[in-house]
Amino acid sequence: MTRIFLSPPHIGARELELLTDAVRSNWIAPLGPHVDAFEREFASRIDVPHALAVSSGTAALHLALVVAGIGPGDRVAVSTLTFAATAFAVRYVGAIPVFIDADTSWTMDAELLEDELVRSVAAGRPIRAVISVDLYGQPCDYARIGSACRRHGAVLIQDAAEALGASYRGRPIGGQGDLAVFSFNGNKIITTSGGGMLVSSCREWIDHARKLSTQAREAAPHYEHREIGFNYRLSNLLAAVGRAQLEVLEARVAARRAINARYREHLAHVPGVTLLDPSPHGEWNAWLTCLTIDATRFGADREKLRLALESENIEARPVWKPMHLQPVFADCEVRAGRVSQELFEHGLCLPSGSSLEPPDQDRVIDVIRSLGRTVRP
Ligand SMILES: Cc1ncc(COP(=O)(O)O)c(C=O)c1O
Repeated sequence: MTRIFLSPPHIGARELELLTDAVRSNWIAPLGPHVDAFEREFASRIDVPHALAVSSGTAALHLALVVAGIGPGDRVAVSTLTFAATAFAVRYVGAIPVFIDADTSWTMDAELLEDELVRSVAAGRPIRAVISVDLYGQPCDYARIGSACRRHGAVLIQDAAEALGASYRGRPIGGQGDLAVFSFNGNKIITTSGGGMLVSSCREWIDHARKLSTQAREAAPHYEHREIGFNYRLSNLLAAVGRAQLEVLEARVAARRAINARYREHLAHVPGVTLLDPSPHGEWNAWLTCLTIDATRFGADREKLRLALESENIEARPVWKPMHLQPVFADCEVRAGRVSQELFEHGLCLPSGSSLEPPDQDRVIDVIRSLGRTVRP
């Protein structure tokens, strides 16, 4: 039985064509025509004027915090239900994460955030920045989060690593924050094997991030440095792959949504299985289909189901373990936390790659239906 992966890369002939062009042109460097074109095409695709291609989503998060002026001792509100990279970046700049629980859309609870912003100002320890996460491709409640940030003078950084192709009120995801971050890691909706993008409508921030990402070199014939820099640029080879991937983004989103619809249809009558509903805040990209298991009604818990899938050579993954439960962040504050804890305890992400064919998806569905107490409609 071939292994079914959670979200494998989905590559076509065009990637090889552009990659070959990059090799033939001898632009084998972290700069070049494909990097410039990828930035232009990406910015236009998500309708934000300025974009910087970098080596990872994590690098983009780090640069976002640096150019926004977040530094040692600053307090930054972060969704607790996320991948660790979101919170790690806060630590890279010496700032202090304050974790905010999720709501039923699995994204940052806007009411808890508003409450934290008010409290922190009253206590004289204002939140300087907020990192919202468009988790599993679900847009956050940006009307509330954005206006709360503006009222309290906090910079809004949008971690859209998982959400390329989603939209909010008719606009592509990525233009809702002051800065936004994307990832092209191997498991994302489009990939460059590893890579990321930082976008903003503020030219100064992106220009500054560009300088920092190439070792903060000043304009001089020799190497002159007035600030600490990083080696964070995206390779021209990987940008070539990214351009080809961007061309098929719409098709990749459509495929993931179709996979989600098929899971929804075939799992609708399994007691104790609840699929994550598309966000009420916008149109998601269905990056991963996620569900929660009520062990009593289903007849087995989340871990039993994961192991049953694994025994059939199917990769499924528990929902992100919230940051406030991670040993490395044990000393951090959290607002509430119960919702994300429960999602972690009972939640599972199913194979959702855009190349998943119906017969393989049926293998996943069959394991779930045969383990659960399926009620025929
Ligand atoms: C929510 C989130 N933030 C940040 C990242 C980091 O991106 P990268 O792996 O490209 O560094 C990822 C994924 O990897 C992610 O899922």
